[in-house]
Amino acid sequence: MIRSVVRGTGAALPRRIMKNADFEGMVETSDEWIAQRTGIRQRHIAGDDETTASLGEAAARAALANAGLTPADIDLVVLATSTPNNTFPATAVDIQNRLGMHHGFAFDLQAVCSGFVYAVATADLYIRGGLAKRVLVIGSETFSRILDWSDRSTCVLFGDGAGAVVVEAGEGTGAIADRGVLAASLRSDGTHKDKLFVDGGPSTTGTVGHLRMEGREVFKHAVGMITDVIEATFAQAGITADDLDWFVPHQANKRIIDASAKKLGIAEQKVVVTVDLHGNTSAASVPLALSVAVADGRIKKGDLVLLEAMGGGFTWGAVLVRW
Ligand code: UT7
Repeated sequence: MIRSVVRGTGAALPRRIMKNADFEGMVETSDEWIAQRTGIRQRHIAGDDETTASLGEAAARAALANAGLTPADIDLVVLATSTPNNTFPATAVDIQNRLGMHHGFAFDLQAVCSGFVYAVATADLYIRGGLAKRVLVIGSETFSRILDWSDRSTCVLFGDGAGAVVVEAGEGTGAIADRGVLAASLRSDGTHKDKLFVDGGPSTTGTVGHLRMEGREVFKHAVGMITDVIEATFAQAGITADDLDWFVPHQANKRIIDASAKKLGIAEQKVVVTVDLHGNTSAASVPLALSVAVADGRIKKGDLVLLEAMGGGFTWGAVLVRW
């Protein structure tokens, strides 16, 4: 059977680093509050010349180099983002053009913080369905552009960045020992749409709008939703938490990550945490964390890796991959 195998990873971060202490003169907050409540210590903030497209392109080029491939080898670009360069065309098409690709196809996928997990599951279906052989899956965001910089309850939480993977068709036997995407579980529920949203858009206000969040409400639902979808993924694959080598969760809050891992019985040393360095980069957070753990040698060929995310909508999901 066809399996969608990860061949390379890459990342890109804006030049400017903003530390927690840099907020102290802007809103009523402290390094101590942010670090204790979220685990965040710093985040990268895009400059005027850095966009979702430029960061996504840089991450894509890094993933291609890591895979030993060129844009000519790719036939589909899927970009997970909620902060596109323009309302349309899709920023994925912009990235396709920046890569010099005039073949294949490209589209954006919008599932907020769950975007990358949805995009990996989507790429897997295109590959297994025979519509693509090699897919660039990118998560790229510039949430700094949609933050209300006077709202301390949200502006300290998010950052900008991009991560990418190259996924390609490989041969598998259908067994859990196969390399590639082994199981996926996706969910959404729009009854929660007002708990985390942007208060603008082309069809309503005609403006871009700002991010609004009832943080405590999101927090309350997060751990239960994350653990449900992971347990469904484990059941699909016939594995338990003990079989995992690495857990790469969405990086929103260290307390959510810790509580989810604990509830699932995933050992602390298997959890990849980058929220301290990047803040919450929405659809970029999982591929950024992945590329850090691949680059430093933690995630190796043959490892069983669980990706998970939860965000606005609500949307949530998990994907199990044998590296
Ligand atoms: O990526 C999508 C998913 N998003 C998330 O996962 C975010 C989920 N939510 C969270 O991570 C947490 O709820 C927050 C980090 C947003 C907030 O942490 P919390 O422990 O839930 O705090 P809280 O909202 O209950 O607020 C506690 C207090 C409040 O003051 P009062 O009402 O108790 O007087 C807030 O006004 O902390 C106050 N506060 C702040 N204080 C200093 C809120 N933001 C700040 C701040 N600095 N930046």
